[in-house]
Amino acid sequence: MPDGVVDLARLFPAASAFAFEVGFGGGEHLAAQARAHPARGIIGCEPFLNGVAKLLTQIDENELTNVRVHMGDARDVMVRLPARCLAAVYVLFPDPWPKLRHHKRRFIQAQTLDELARVMTHGGELRLATDHMAYACWALSHLMRDERFRWSAETASDWRARPGDWPGTRYEQKALNAGRPCVYLRFIRQ
Ligand SMILES: C[S@@+](CC[C@H](N)C(=O)[O-])C[C@H]1O[C@@H](n2cnc3c(N)ncnc32)[C@H](O)[C@@H]1O
Repeated sequence: MPDGVVDLARLFPAASAFAFEVGFGGGEHLAAQARAHPARGIIGCEPFLNGVAKLLTQIDENELTNVRVHMGDARDVMVRLPARCLAAVYVLFPDPWPKLRHHKRRFIQAQTLDELARVMTHGGELRLATDHMAYACWALSHLMRDERFRWSAETASDWRARPGDWPGTRYEQKALNAGRPCVYLRFIRQ
């Protein structure tokens, strides 16, 4: 990607909206979203080569033309996105960094929320999933005191069950197989 502000129109000449996935792992969710929304350009970020290779295979097999991949830290891309460009952001099973001294490494942080608030469109949706209940509480405490985001849940089933238009991930399946329940949080940029 050339330096400077990311030129989304150049990156995705045929797209009418844009989405962003942080830490796509094996890429199954990202590929499914790209198939479901062919008019949406999706940028996926993942530092691990194996994950990137898996996503590239799915892009190839499904002939997806609306995906761009950054092998590295999502925050490095986020700061280069123009304001109010993302209709959807996916943060699925972020590393929980359970030790207190590592909490500063968690993806959900005041600084990241500032950046997300800047790059998301009004009405844009942030989807966050985790099987780590302390991380769920951490994310909720950050996002619920932030007036720029509104948690859209109205009943418990809204966060206990994965919505139909939210494809599953490999990590989620591992958590469920191990008997760990998952939570699915949706926030709307106000
Ligand atoms: C627990 S895994 C979940 C993977 C996938 N989302 C899933 O649900 O199967 C967390 C992933 O986030 C990636 N990751 C962690 N920090 C990241 C960052 N700052 N930017 C991009 N990816 C990141 C890790 O490499 C890892 O693949």
